[in-house]
Parts: sequence; C-alpha cells; structure tokens
Amino acid sequence: MTIQPEAYVQSDTPDAAIKRESTPYDGAKAELSAGLLDPSASISPKYLYDTMGSKLFEALCLLPEYYPTRTEEAIIAANAASIASAVGPGRTLIDLGAGNCAKAALLFPMLQPRHYVPIDISKTFLEQAAAQLQRRYPQMRITPLAQDFSHELSLPASVGTEHRVFFYPGSSIGNFSPDEASAFLRRLRQACQADGGVLLGIDLIKNPTLLRAAYDDAIGLTSAFNLNLLRNVNCLLDSDFNVDDWVHEARFNSHEQCMQMYLKARHAVTVRWPGGQRLFTTHETIHTENSYKYTVPSFIQLLAGAGFAHAQIWTDEHNWFAMVHARAA
Ligand SMILES: C[S@@+](CC[C@H](N)C(=O)[O-])C[C@H]1O[C@@H](n2cnc3c(N)ncnc32)[C@H](O)[C@@H]1O
Repeated sequence: MTIQPEAYVQSDTPDAAIKRESTPYDGAKAELSAGLLDPSASISPKYLYDTMGSKLFEALCLLPEYYPTRTEEAIIAANAASIASAVGPGRTLIDLGAGNCAKAALLFPMLQPRHYVPIDISKTFLEQAAAQLQRRYPQMRITPLAQDFSHELSLPASVGTEHRVFFYPGSSIGNFSPDEASAFLRRLRQACQADGGVLLGIDLIKNPTLLRAAYDDAIGLTSAFNLNLLRNVNCLLDSDFNVDDWVHEARFNSHEQCMQMYLKARHAVTVRWPGGQRLFTTHETIHTENSYKYTVPSFIQLLAGAGFAHAQIWTDEHNWFAMVHARAA
C-alpha cells in the first residue's frame, strides 16, 4: 500500500517553496491581508499550523493544564469497542485536521477502517505522521491529503463515496462559530451518502478557571504556539511582524461560552507587507482563535439541523469532553 499526497501548491519560486513547506493554501495572501486590514484585525487559526506550529501543538497537548487531549484519548481508550461498534467496520475514515494521527490510531485495532484518509493543512507534519502510521499498519490503505478544508472539502475519486465517516477530534469544530459549525456539518452531510456518519470530539462547557489555564499555561507553550503564527504569516505574506512586539492573551467570553486567543501589541507598531500596511496602536489586538464550548443537547441539535441523527455520546467522569457519533439522517 502506498501513501499518495494528492493536493498541494505547485510553483518554482523560492517564496512558494516556503509556502509548500508550511501550508497548501494558495489563497493565503488575500485572506491574511483582508484579516489584517479589518478594523477588528483577525487571522484564521488554521495559520497556527506550519510545521513548527504542529510540533508546538503536539507539545502543549502534554501540558497538565491542557485537559482536552488526554481527556479525549481516555474516552477513546475506555470506549474503543463501543465507538467501533457504533461507527461500523470497513469504513473510509476521513480524519479532518489529523495532526499526528494519534487519535485515529487509537481506534484502528477495534475499528479496522477500510481506508484511512488523514487531511491537514500542515503538509510536512502530516506526511511524516502518515508515513509513520503506514509503517505500523503496512496493510492499511492510507491516503494523506495536504489540504485546507475551511472553504471546501475536495476529496479525490480514489476516496470512494460509500461508507464515509468524518472523524473530527480535538474539539476543532469549536474553532467555528455555531453558525459556521452548522454550515460545515451540512457540507459534511453533503459529502457522504446515506451510509455515512460523523465522529466528533467536543469540548463541554465547564469552569472558566480550567479553560483559562488550558489556553494560557504556566510555562508559556500556548504563548509560543500563538506567537509562532506571526512567523508563519511572515512566510506566507512576506510581512515584517516582529514576534517581540506582541504578547499572547487568552480571554473567556462568557456570553458566547468561548475561549479566545489574541495577540496584543506591546506598543504602537506598523506592520508592512507587499501591497499593504497597518498601524497597530498600543494594546491593539489580532484575534487568532475561537474555541466554542457546547452542551451535549445543544450539539445534538446542531447535528440534527445539519442532517445527522441517532447520536451516541461518550464522555469522561467530569463531563469535560464528549465524543459524539451520528449517522446521516
Ligand atoms: C487542534 S489540532 C487537532 C489535531 C488532532 N486532530 C488532535 O485531535 O489532536 C487542529 C489540526 O487541524 C489542522 N487544521 C486546522 N485548520 C485546518 C484547515 N482549515 N484545513 C486543514 N487542516 C486544518 C491543524 O493543522 C491541526 O493539525
């Protein structure tokens, strides 16, 4: 069985060579420029993940403060048989934002997918993770796709349309607002047949003190993860962000039950890039991530609105996190 990376930017310019290394998304310049020029400046969280960002994320998953990864992994480990039985054997498991593919690998022994399709914007990191997994499971068909799925999900014909299950762990669905999440789930519903389904990890509403610590840890890994985004943006946009000018900030928006990450200017600074520039005043911010928290009923309602039913839920002893499987209605 072979690994076939199937989608990435092709160009011979040195700038694009850096782009190939960091992200397959070729609309980056326009999107980043528009976000920086917006009165409330923002950069999509997908730009947190160049190779360095993926490695920093992998490290921060080990932090005592970062409960989501270990809680979700414990839920999978404790319920692998039951999750596998709900999902069913012989599926095409499409792992959205697969990262190091570790959570899917936890499911493999029980789930035995027919085809594993990890998708991630962080191309080099994805390919290394998929190659490692292929060595562990030489018989399994693995097709990594370096792709930005935020605007559209483009699956090659080699990924059959039957028995698709979209696996979206890590509470990444929380990076979308509830309206955006609903639209994204509707797109997943359109991308599968009546035999399809979803298996998602969602972060549940909890004590804000726990949330704040998870997004602003004591040794500053989350800060490094957030600040590294500026280096990725410099590569993609040819901008001149100086990381020293910015500071990481995590806020809890209680009205929206949403953790938010920002980068705050330490002092007035002008950032320039080809075709644009922006003066940021002292303490002005760039919004870099939302992480919406859900209740199980509110999430099931979101799934129902998108065309998924028969939800099965697995959670942990503290009700901090939930895995949800639902079938195409
Ligand atoms: C929070 S991490 C989760 C990683 C892994 N699934 C886990 O649960 O530990 C989000 C992952 O999604 C990827 N990602 C984020 N936005 C993406 C996008 N628009 N298209 C493709 N991959 C994306 C990132 O590169 C990263 O690996």
